[in-house]
Amino acid sequence: MTHIIHRHLHVTPPVAVSGDGVFLTDAAGQQYIDACGGAAVSCLGHNHPDVRAAMHAQVDRLAYAHTSFFTTEAAEALADQLVRTAPSGMGHVYFVSGGSEAIEAALKLARQYFVELGEPDRRVFIARRQSYHGNTLGALAVGGNEPRRHLYEPLLIDVQHVSPCYAYRDQRGDETPEDYGRRLAEELADTIERYGPGRVIAFVAETVGGATQGATTAPPGYYRAVREICDRHGVLLILDEVMCGMGRTGTLHACEQESVVPDLMVIAKGLGGGYQPIGAVLAADRLVTTLAAGSGFFQHGHTYLGHPVACAAALAVQQVIARDGLLLNVQVRGRTFERLLRERFTGHPHVGDVRGRGLFWAVELVQDRVSQAPFDPAARLHVRVKRECMARGLMTYPMPGTIDGHRGDHILLAPPFIVEDSHLEVIVDRLHGAIDAAIASLD
Ligand SMILES: Cc1ncc(COP(=O)(O)O)c(C=O)c1O
Repeated sequence: MTHIIHRHLHVTPPVAVSGDGVFLTDAAGQQYIDACGGAAVSCLGHNHPDVRAAMHAQVDRLAYAHTSFFTTEAAEALADQLVRTAPSGMGHVYFVSGGSEAIEAALKLARQYFVELGEPDRRVFIARRQSYHGNTLGALAVGGNEPRRHLYEPLLIDVQHVSPCYAYRDQRGDETPEDYGRRLAEELADTIERYGPGRVIAFVAETVGGATQGATTAPPGYYRAVREICDRHGVLLILDEVMCGMGRTGTLHACEQESVVPDLMVIAKGLGGGYQPIGAVLAADRLVTTLAAGSGFFQHGHTYLGHPVACAAALAVQQVIARDGLLLNVQVRGRTFERLLRERFTGHPHVGDVRGRGLFWAVELVQDRVSQAPFDPAARLHVRVKRECMARGLMTYPMPGTIDGHRGDHILLAPPFIVEDSHLEVIVDRLHGAIDAAIASLD
């Protein structure tokens, strides 16, 4: 009997009791290879001794100090580290406790910036369909995940959604990837222009699409065009790198590979690698100097801002990634992972697409590879795939609704940066077995 409101009220998940590297073990002794980092969180794997030591040291010195009274060495050191490695001009950091809180803070900072700049009529956010930015009401409103939004729709601020980057289904036969990127960017420009001058606050996008659509990368030139359109209209660019950032795609920030610098960048998951709850907003200098020259106060705040133990853990995670050259590992293992996935699934009758970057990949499942027809959503294929993976000692992140929130299925893969080739072979083997078993169970 459990007293916890678990994610599903009729299912109590296994009890996780220990972790070691890329493995988690439950109370029944079953070991799982963590091929998804939970939800692309555990970038260093589990139980890393250096992170544990940093957390112990911080707890032994100072576990908590409220940010309306103090700053802490841990928070200052982490901010220094993040700014040192941030895209140029992003010289400020705001620490929170997770991805949704970070998005909320970014939305509010963006709005306050324009009010203090004397443009209070800017009150509209534009984001993309089939995106996810978190489950708090502001984050849910900008997100384009239809099933997650549906129940709360009457409570959500009005946000305009444009098309996602989804080349597998949306790039037309007569278009090059560059044409497709231009078409998407033009849709954004048209949407901003429909509102008229001085109305839109920001465009919000996951640099690489995450859980909702499965590791969808942008067509070449898309983000540079988006940046130019935002600049032309005085609209801010907020990039959500909660899932795809902090090294997951092979560079510390996914936007580095798009050659754009956002005005606000939101990070979480891989920042603390799951060792502590932490998220952050990286802000362009001009936003913060505008507030500093105006009210001098960001009208926001939470009790656990800049929590010292969370900051100490995140600093240790980031130091280990730098010291051990793990971004290079993401690139090298990422190439191996891509090769293994393509070799195994390119000819598979029920795999329509294999896509991703670095150690961030997705496999999209289809009923028919030629017509790209998805499976019947009523079959709940994602539940079957997850069950079959877990039975084989494999953690993956299968999601339904890949196409429009209702139709389509994909499996997201995001193994720790310390993964080795032998682990990747096991992951692909077990995944193949699980997919086949799940599909066979539909008969
Ligand atoms: C891209 C993205 N943004 C925001 C969030 C919300 O983060 P959190 O669950 O830490 O609130 C998530 C979580 O999955 C995410 O993937």
